[in-house]
Amino acid sequence: MLTVSGINTFYGTSHILHDVSLQIGDGELIAVLGLNGAGKTTLLRSIMGVNPPRSGRIELLGTDITRMKSHDRNHLGISYVPQGRQIIPDLTVADNIRVALLGKGMNGSQVPGSVFEYFPALKDITERKGGVLSGGQQQQLAIARALVQKPKLLLLDEPTEGLQPSVVEEIQEIIKRIQAERTCSVLLIEQRLDFVGDITQRFAILDTGRIVRQGSISELTDEVIRTHLQV
Ligand SMILES: Nc1ncnc2c1ncn2[C@@H]1O[C@H](COP(=O)(O)OP(=O)(O)O)[C@@H](O)[C@H]1O
Ligand SMILES: [Mg+2]
Repeated sequence: MLTVSGINTFYGTSHILHDVSLQIGDGELIAVLGLNGAGKTTLLRSIMGVNPPRSGRIELLGTDITRMKSHDRNHLGISYVPQGRQIIPDLTVADNIRVALLGKGMNGSQVPGSVFEYFPALKDITERKGGVLSGGQQQQLAIARALVQKPKLLLLDEPTEGLQPSVVEEIQEIIKRIQAERTCSVLLIEQRLDFVGDITQRFAILDTGRIVRQGSISELTDEVIRTHLQV
């Protein structure tokens, strides 16, 4: 599905990602872990083309997308739920979803009812402005907006960050369902290791811009956690 080969990404002269390589199979979920500042968000921005790598190669289903613009990557099948959700505050829930459909060249006149299968809580608030929603509702909307594009690969950047425990569980259930139904491949950035252990077979750890561990979840030992994931 996705092959990232030896990418190097910079902000100006700051070299952030160093020779990062990663593969995600069809319908697979991989969790990318790492401390704050490790480069997790930068990795997603590189894959999405918001911050393209300066060297290395990214392929989606065999197509070289390394130099492709973000919206072309989106068209090809990558949807991105950024950290902090970034829904459009002045637009209603329905219009936020329509924008995602139009962005993909799909007919945005009608929001497909199937969206609400995953997100029944959004069904009753389709005319509410994005900006007045609770954090959990905003996160649901952000994921709904991505899924309505029928992605082949979904990038989720800390989807449960800053949410109340009960809402965290709701979001986790949605991610579990995406995984169980193999709706799409998922690259999940997540700090909650218990959840990571629950949901995925594979993980990768970024440490100061380098992949330092990658493997099956059984290899995520206490020692690995102490070495790379604790300050
Ligand atoms: N827009 C930016 N300009 C310059 N440096 C940045 C920018 N965004 C992030 N960084 C730096 O890049 C590094 C990785 O950040 P980030 O990818 O956001 O890490 P993470 O998501 O793992 O917390 C950090 O050192 C951060 O300070
Ligand atoms: Mg981040």
